Amino acid sequence: IDISRFQNDLITWYQENKRDLPWRQDQDPYKIWVSEIMLQQTKVDTVIPYFQRFIKKYPDVHALAQADPEDVLKSWEGLGYYSRARNLQNAVREVVATYNGEVPDNGDELGALKGVGAYTKGAILSIAFNQPEPAVDGNVMRVFSRILRIEEDIALQRTKKLFESYVRELIDESDPSSFNQAVMELGALICTPKSPACLLCPVQEHCQAFAAGVEEELPIKKKA
Ligand code: ADE
Repeated sequence: IDISRFQNDLITWYQENKRDLPWRQDQDPYKIWVSEIMLQQTKVDTVIPYFQRFIKKYPDVHALAQADPEDVLKSWEGLGYYSRARNLQNAVREVVATYNGEVPDNGDELGALKGVGAYTKGAILSIAFNQPEPAVDGNVMRVFSRILRIEEDIALQRTKKLFESYVRELIDESDPSSFNQAVMELGALICTPKSPACLLCPVQEHCQAFAAGVEEELPIKKKA
């Protein structure tokens, strides 16, 4: 793979085709954090109105830290996985108490916060702080399993680590935020689970699965 051309083709497509999503209005790490927590188990279209109401009600870490946990849960009602809301408020309270209300810009401090796993940590570091860190979820694994024709079982934790190391090699260090969001956008709009739109894909010429005609067989996910 020609990394520079891959980065350029991907990011140029993203700049021209990205959806106007409410968490893309600015790089506030708190808002990026809230959006990525909501998006982890919930679809974009469902998240949008919840995100907008949540940010209106809790515009910054101080507002969320001071809120009644019952009210926070009410704002989350319908999104499911309510431990996400409890963990988020606990972690935000920790940010206020320990970091003077500034969301940490390093992986060690971020990763120690409740509910902040490898994916959320990488998403905040790359999108809000523009650091060249991977943010690998199922969508990102699908995209790179096809581009790189990786046949490892994506259900395995070590396969996720493998993808993180590939992303570290491929990420555009001059614009990590756009790079990671471009991969997410490609997974949502083009490189979909079924019937991917390869003929419209901006990185088709870099894709090993397309070259071999096996894009629909990837990623490989074995049953537990
Ligand atoms: N899915 C997870 N994170 C996302 C983001 N920042 N934008 C769009 N879809 C996403």
